[in-house]
Amino acid sequence: MIEYGHTADGITERQLGGFFENWPQPPSRETHLRLLRASDQIVLAVDAESGDVVGFITAVSDGILSAYIPLLEVRADHRGRGIGRELVRRMLARLERLYMVDLTCDAALQPFYRAAGMQKAVGMSIRNYDRQSGDEPTIR
Ligand SMILES: CC(C)(COP(=O)(O)OP(=O)(O)OC[C@H]1O[C@@H](n2cnc3c(N)ncnc32)[C@H](O)[C@@H]1OP(=O)(O)O)[C@@H](O)C(=O)NCCC(=O)NCCS
Repeated sequence: MIEYGHTADGITERQLGGFFENWPQPPSRETHLRLLRASDQIVLAVDAESGDVVGFITAVSDGILSAYIPLLEVRADHRGRGIGRELVRRMLARLERLYMVDLTCDAALQPFYRAAGMQKAVGMSIRNYDRQSGDEPTIR
């Protein structure tokens, strides 16, 4: 059974693992936990039996008009069971009073987000690949 939570309180590094699939320099579990704590909103999917976090979604927001959803991932061994859909549904519900909620994704995922009520948009982005692990302090 999957339980959904909205806080990183009580979550330990031991419960995190198997995420950032195919990232050349993935954040460590410690960094993963730090970013969960630092996000304005999160939803976690936890396997009730093992206690493992098997999916997560984050949002950063000004809390007034806008939010951005930078990260969504379901652990590979738990995909295809509706967990990703549920994480997005719960996050959008938490953000529903904001004017604008944005994310970027590959074209292949647009139907997944469209099914959650989102619309296709054009965006711009930059990636500093030497900062991908998030190991060092970032914002000055
Ligand atoms: C995308 C992701 C979160 C989906 O999680 P999931 O728990 O497997 O998704 P669900 O089981 O809720 O699937 C819901 C629907 O989306 C579709 N879907 C899921 N992953 C998809 C993908 N990668 N591409 C296209 N469609 C996808 C499913 O087929 C399903 O469709 P259906 O309702 O017609 O059966 C998961 O594949 C993942 O973690 N991928 C790697 C990280 C990633 O790409 N994150 C998104 C960044 S924008």
